[in-house]
Amino acid sequence: MKITGATKTSGIFGHPIGHTLSPVMQNAAFEAAGCDIVYLPFHVSPARLPGAVDAVRALEMVGVNVTIPHKERVMGYLDSVDPTARAIGAVNTVVNSDGRLTGYNTDGEGYMRSLTGETGFVPEGKSVILIGAGGAARAILHALLSGGAASVLIANRTVKRAEDLACDFGGVFEAREVGVSALDAAELARRVEGADLVVNTTSLGMEGSPVLDFPVEALPTGAVVSDIVYRPGDTELLKRASERGLAVHRGIGMLVCQGALGFELWTGLTAPVDVMTRAVMDELSAGPSEGE
Ligand code: ATR
Repeated sequence: MKITGATKTSGIFGHPIGHTLSPVMQNAAFEAAGCDIVYLPFHVSPARLPGAVDAVRALEMVGVNVTIPHKERVMGYLDSVDPTARAIGAVNTVVNSDGRLTGYNTDGEGYMRSLTGETGFVPEGKSVILIGAGGAARAILHALLSGGAASVLIANRTVKRAEDLACDFGGVFEAREVGVSALDAAELARRVEGADLVVNTTSLGMEGSPVLDFPVEALPTGAVVSDIVYRPGDTELLKRASERGLAVHRGIGMLVCQGALGFELWTGLTAPVDVMTRAVMDELSAGPSEGE
């Protein structure tokens, strides 16, 4: 990559930021597409967020990604927020158009693009078990309901959080059934009948985290099992699903596709998804993951 006086800038704001895979992924994409843009990691403490957002304008950056813990609060410093990001309540991508900053959320759409692209699953009329009720679950639930899912059961360790999420979206998508459950294998075994998709949006199953105890054996034979955890690529959940002969969807796809949508918002070009996937996979197989 050759940086000159004409090179434009982009990057990611987070706290911490040391383990992000986005610079490797986006720089590979810019290079493959012939874009003269460089993508850098920026450690932004919560107190410095307003100044960092203003710097996107001052430095005439193309845009930035925003990650934990800034995804919700950043909305207050932008000029406008896209309706999907507003409904989800979080922004992960900021686009700078002549000094006007607009916030988007590409997590839910990125998830759907990856899921449908890899497995052919379309949410219309389907029954879904959503594990987790945090930020990722919000974005994915919004995408599933927007795509016409008929029913979603949200299973979470903290049931109140699942209830709050069901309440937030159940009202907007009135015709759909949005239920809640404890994250309890015995209870879920009784409730998975007819499920078309199970998606884990928690950190359970990630390297260094406990494994998700889910009753894979009770799922119907046509169900798709999806995990947004990408380290390891094949979580215990996915291994058990594969052993049962179920279709599986790995977490790397959402990571790449949310980034691909950001790339497309910044450049107006079709993202080189294969190049981005390769860059992330190379990094995952090469790099240590301590501290993540
Ligand atoms: P993110 O933005 O990545 O979704 P988050 O908002 O902190 O992160 O949400 C994390 C999700 O993982 C939550 O659903 C959380 O459950 P709680 O709402 O009960 O906290 C879930 N989670 C994290 N660690 C967990 C664990 N050890 N056991 C069960 N659920 C866990």
